[in-house]
Amino acid sequence: MSTSERVDPRSAAAFDAWYDVYRAAMDDGREYAVTWTREELRVAVLEESPYWTKELWAVRDDAGELAGAMVIELPMKDNTTVISPRIGVRADVRRRGYGSVLARTAADRAAQYGRTVVQSQLDVPLAAEHLAERPGEAAATAGQAFLEANGLEPANFEVHRILELPLAEAFLETLAAEAAEHHQGYQLVSWQDRCPDEFVDAYAALQSIFALEAPQGELEKEAESWDAARLRAVEEQSLAQGRHGWITVTVAADGTLAGNTELYVGEHAPGKAFQWSTLVSPPHRGHRLGLALKVRNHRELQRSHSEPLVVHTWNGEQNTAMNAVNAKLGFRPVEQSQEWQRRIAPAALISDRL
Ligand SMILES: CC(C)(COP(=O)(O)OP(=O)(O)OC[C@H]1O[C@@H](n2cnc3c(N)ncnc32)[C@H](O)[C@@H]1OP(=O)(O)O)[C@@H](O)C(=O)NCCC(=O)NCCS
Repeated sequence: MSTSERVDPRSAAAFDAWYDVYRAAMDDGREYAVTWTREELRVAVLEESPYWTKELWAVRDDAGELAGAMVIELPMKDNTTVISPRIGVRADVRRRGYGSVLARTAADRAAQYGRTVVQSQLDVPLAAEHLAERPGEAAATAGQAFLEANGLEPANFEVHRILELPLAEAFLETLAAEAAEHHQGYQLVSWQDRCPDEFVDAYAALQSIFALEAPQGELEKEAESWDAARLRAVEEQSLAQGRHGWITVTVAADGTLAGNTELYVGEHAPGKAFQWSTLVSPPHRGHRLGLALKVRNHRELQRSHSEPLVVHTWNGEQNTAMNAVNAKLGFRPVEQSQEWQRRIAPAALISDRL
């Protein structure tokens, strides 16, 4: 059986060949797949970053062609017990052990970096019959069987929802008016791409608590460590990836940053928009700020993007407040985004499993 090889993303040919296998496997059977585009991922893996490390690995078939591809992500400033591999194998060579070869490499890298928690994301389409009656339920897939065989267990479930844009201006106006009665005293402020200097520290602080405030199920996760430098680094990387952000925040009467929401549109992902974090910090909840933030941000986006776009968002099923806001806007479920996890006892770090 073949062994894995490290892929050097600085070689355009090597990266492109790796990406073709990875992308086909990630998109397989998924009508609503939103795998990072070639250029977005290329920028992300080429960047030397103090915040995260990304490694690319591949395995070849007997003919010397790439059979499987893996990307490993390692947070470097927080959550430093975690390693996140994503493995994909060419559809015509599955069940021949190529996925397992890459899984063993992930286990080796975990040992190398001293990581004790393996987390892997898996996107599973919601079958039509489930959509009608049991929207939380997803079909059984090869990915689930594979992760189970590698000792991982499901730890968190999110629902991937979509919404067709543009939304009617009158509809947004009605929602904005409905929310406005409840959030007098709070101001909404919007910008594109670059956070104004006056908010940069407070915005980084909001990002730090986001990972803990959004429901995470059984996932082992600690607060992320954000500061102004990290926020600027992410903004710069997004622009290098051709991604443009529309951000709206809400400011309380005392000047505190009370919440935020982000929509991104990528030059390399035409027709799509992404709803990233939305957060209202705990002391400011109950004023319909979640709805107000999103409605304002959609209006801002639509001022420059009036063409049809499909916006994608992910939320925990238990996140009732956010799901209620999304339902009002008209989002509908299309996939379950599952996060699987395995804890490795430090003594067992050298193991033949993920
Ligand atoms: C999941 C995936 C990577 C597996 O790759 P693979 O090369 O076929 O995996 P392996 O041959 O090493 O399988 C290892 C074990 O996983 C389990 N497994 C894998 N695919 C399975 C399937 N379709 N049905 C049942 N069990 C399966 C089995 O226990 C298998 O051992 P066995 O063949 O001896 O019974 C591949 O199906 C794929 O690319 N799927 C799309 C992307 C994806 O879902 N990735 C997982 C997220 S990390």
